[in-house]
Amino acid sequence: MEFMNLDEIDLSLSAPTEEPMRQYYYMALAKKKVAELSRQVGHTLTACVTTFGCQMNARDSEKLQGILKQVGYELVDHEEADFVIYNTCTVRENANNKVYGRLGYLHSQKDKNPHMMIALCGCMMQEPEVVEKLQESYRFVDLIFGTHNLYKFAELLCDSLDSDRMVIDIWKDTDLIVENLPVERKYAFKSGVNIMFGCNNFCSYCIVPYVRGRERSRKPQEILREIERLVADGVKEVMLLGQNVNSYGKNLDPQVSFAELLQEVDKIPGLERIRFMTSHPKDLSDELIAVMASSKKICHHMHLPLQTGSNRLLQEMNRHYTREHYLELVEKLRRAIPDIAITTDIIVGYPGETEEDFLDTMDVVEKVGYDSAFTFIYSKRTGTPAAKKEDQIPEDVVKDRFDRLLEVVRRDGQKRAESYTGSVQRVLIEQMNEQDEALVTGRMDNNSVVHLPGDASMIGTFVDVKLVECKGFYYIGQRV
Ligand code: 5AD
Ligand code: SF4
Repeated sequence: MEFMNLDEIDLSLSAPTEEPMRQYYYMALAKKKVAELSRQVGHTLTACVTTFGCQMNARDSEKLQGILKQVGYELVDHEEADFVIYNTCTVRENANNKVYGRLGYLHSQKDKNPHMMIALCGCMMQEPEVVEKLQESYRFVDLIFGTHNLYKFAELLCDSLDSDRMVIDIWKDTDLIVENLPVERKYAFKSGVNIMFGCNNFCSYCIVPYVRGRERSRKPQEILREIERLVADGVKEVMLLGQNVNSYGKNLDPQVSFAELLQEVDKIPGLERIRFMTSHPKDLSDELIAVMASSKKICHHMHLPLQTGSNRLLQEMNRHYTREHYLELVEKLRRAIPDIAITTDIIVGYPGETEEDFLDTMDVVEKVGYDSAFTFIYSKRTGTPAAKKEDQIPEDVVKDRFDRLLEVVRRDGQKRAESYTGSVQRVLIEQMNEQDEALVTGRMDNNSVVHLPGDASMIGTFVDVKLVECKGFYYIGQRV
């Protein structure tokens, strides 16, 4: 089915039980309530969604915004709004702390605006201790929901608008995927596309499988139809999203591999660039490398989280590959796609990490020569196997290792970036430069950022750009 027109929904009937029709019914109902409230307060109600964390959350926020817009809120990007939603992350402890810190500020906003509503959703809400704490000490929050029932936002919004108490709805897990709900994209010309939800890997340090549930793949037809619709709406670049895209389709009947899905996406006329995130080294197939090498649309970029270069720790982390296997993958990728950019995630200070383990990580990092890397200090997440380990590493040792790693990552990244200086690259212009209004900012195929003289009319178009100067992790360019 396609998107429904809310004005054609008969609210005198009871709510349908089937999805997504049920949510469209609640959108129509919420629209009535929001219009009434807007009349009462004398202005169109405003709403702001603030996203913490990864691209998956960013895409979820676009779904929330799609519903908010449908029901009549004016979307704003500041938190002095009538409705503020925090879509939270919990992958590391500091993500949680950030949310608690900012809730204090939201409380003071709410004191000034009695109509204000506050909602919290996302990964952090899937942790029972968090919800307990909110119930005890953050009573001013109006609505709390989790990752599995985000599709129900319209229904929960109606509940919350009718209630003066905290509405809480958290599910432990789900096997449901609800299609065809509205989405409000941040960018007109590029979009994330979920291909799967959840994660089955249970890396020993990681909370994601506990808060995002078991792996579920969307049907290929649904994904392809969504992308076709996006392309018809002006999208030129898609980012296929999943915690481990390389295991896409394993729970589908009939099974479909990620490489097969990519081949189908590649055929969609009008689509110009395909990216994907994230690949797990244990499932990266030769078939995928071959598809990437033969495609003109799949970007020459592979984000391949290493986490650690120590075989002993890789095993403890439950990663299911060795440093040798990882290096072999890098070699295969570079052989098949010589100009591929390889980026990674690395954790420093995993419990029990010795200097020798750390040097193994440094060694792999030097051997690979990453284009860039996200480096993280290990963060203890309650409920994960690693949290129970006693040999946590002292802060000063971790900090020292972290700085040494960062230095190598920075040096190699710069070296690789500089090797492109002087070349001409196809760049998709994404936005005006945030510091200098005479410049626009875009991305190369390999995901590097380029700033160049230009104006707003270029946003969403591809231009050929000569990379004049390399500034470490970005370039200053000139249109040719
Ligand atoms: N501590 C630090 N980093 C973590 N990551 C996941 N869990 C933790 C943790 N407990 C990192 C991994 C992953 C990235 C998204 O976040 O490197 O690839
Ligand atoms: Fe976390 Fe590992 Fe799943 Fe990635 S693959 S989300 S690191 S458990």
